[in-house]
Amino acid sequence: MIMSLLEFSSLSVEFATLNGGFKAVDNVSLTVDPGEIVAIVGESGSGKSVSMLAVIGLLPWTANSTADKLEFQGRDMLKMRPRDKRKIIGKDISMIFQEPTTSLNPCFTVDFQITETLKKHTDLSVRNARTGRSSFCAWSAFPHPSAASRPSRISCPAA
Ligand SMILES: Nc1ncnc2c1ncn2[C@@H]1O[C@H](COP(=O)(O)OP(=O)(O)OP(=O)(O)O)[C@@H](O)[C@H]1O
Ligand SMILES: [Mg+2]
Repeated sequence: MIMSLLEFSSLSVEFATLNGGFKAVDNVSLTVDPGEIVAIVGESGSGKSVSMLAVIGLLPWTANSTADKLEFQGRDMLKMRPRDKRKIIGKDISMIFQEPTTSLNPCFTVDFQITETLKKHTDLSVRNARTGRSSFCAWSAFPHPSAASRPSRISCPAA
């Protein structure tokens, strides 16, 4: 039997708000097999992004997420230690954020944020990580950041 790439069942997410709990995701299950492309379609606000943020553990502290099962490449992400999760997230499983203008942290330079992923997940030297960053910018048509550029100074070409 082929192992699923990603599998979760009965995923629910509730946010604590000033008006009480708000259930954004209610009992969602999904399986993605290796090589398979799965599109989740739903109206705005139906919980697509929040579900995926729950899978990679990037929900804000006001959110409480539960699931019966959450496995990536057969590994139980519900029981995984945070330090082991950090080795996978951003390398083997990642998310392309919806809003490019708010996806980068305004407190850090663009150069730092792109190079950081390469430094964390590869054994590239700083110099080679910078080369990797340049290739990434060229490939993605992202404006090449100068060392000091912060996100507010970058404008992306329209897709
Ligand atoms: N931090 C938060 N606190 C409270 N509610 C939130 C928070 N983040 C998202 N929500 C709510 O959760 C629900 C699901 O939002 P989500 O962003 O997942 O929708 P979506 O399906 O991705 O929509 P879109 O198609 O517009 O991207 C929405 O009602 C949204 O307002
Ligand atoms: Mg969304």
